[in-house]
Amino acid sequence: PFVTSEKMLLDARRGGYAVGAFNAENMEMVKAIIAAAEELRAPVMIQTTSSTIKYGSVETYAAIVSAEAMKASVPVCLHLDHGSSFGLAVRCVMAGYTSVMMDGSKLPFEENIAVSRQVAEMAAAVGIPCEAELGKVGGKEDEVEAVADTNTDPAEAKEFVERTGISSLAVAIGTAHGFYVGTPVLDVERLSEIRKAVDVPLVLHGASGLTDEQVQGCVKRGICKVNFATELRNAYTRAVERYLLDNPNTIDPKAYSKAAMAAVTELVKARMKVCGCDGKM
Ligand code: 13P
Ligand code: ZN
Ligand code: NA
Repeated sequence: PFVTSEKMLLDARRGGYAVGAFNAENMEMVKAIIAAAEELRAPVMIQTTSSTIKYGSVETYAAIVSAEAMKASVPVCLHLDHGSSFGLAVRCVMAGYTSVMMDGSKLPFEENIAVSRQVAEMAAAVGIPCEAELGKVGGKEDEVEAVADTNTDPAEAKEFVERTGISSLAVAIGTAHGFYVGTPVLDVERLSEIRKAVDVPLVLHGASGLTDEQVQGCVKRGICKVNFATELRNAYTRAVERYLLDNPNTIDPKAYSKAAMAAVTELVKARMKVCGCDGKM
């Protein structure tokens, strides 16, 4: 079924595991992610960034995901990832997205509160949960570019959650979008402090390139949603490349797309197991 992120994230918090949230660019990635969720009996979040939405459209992704989710035997949610404005969040909700994020993390604290609260209230009015971000995750995710790497302050996090009414909070503890050069150092003590200060489910961004142990350590300390994007794009594209090198006379897109989907499904299954959301449905 096609559901919001509310129950799946609260269940994850209660159960001490995390829901995997996977960025999709096209129908093939959506099908591959849902296939992994069905095989492992896991709840799943599919998400699109604003640049993905520019590539397709909110109506297109909502139609693809809702059609696939309605056939699925596990709960599937469609989430706006790193929403860059109130208007985009409205467009997503109207198109049928079942979860949104407002990323105001590059704004001053008060402005981040104001816009996150506005989106959270709008979404709540129609039963849609809202994620927001405080502190800066490294690297660049579409139009939302981190200015400097600043980790989330636990006391500010408490005030931010209270004043915005958000459903979940994305934290900055040393992760970055994209693959890492070297091994990132995560401030897990800070994560535990944030967990103590805040009771909404916490979200980890930038999980591509983290070791299994790093992801599991964060889940143990209260992360309820883990975002993976770069690893899926890489698995997909390398599989297409490999297929075309091995089969240079290929004409039918279905042939290399099947190879790409199989690679994405395998990757998503492995990451779901690390998050501990397998077997929960
Ligand atoms: P990665 O690209 O590092 O997996 O980050 C994903 C993410 O945080 C999407 O919001
Ligand atoms: Zn992110
Ligand atoms: Na990353």
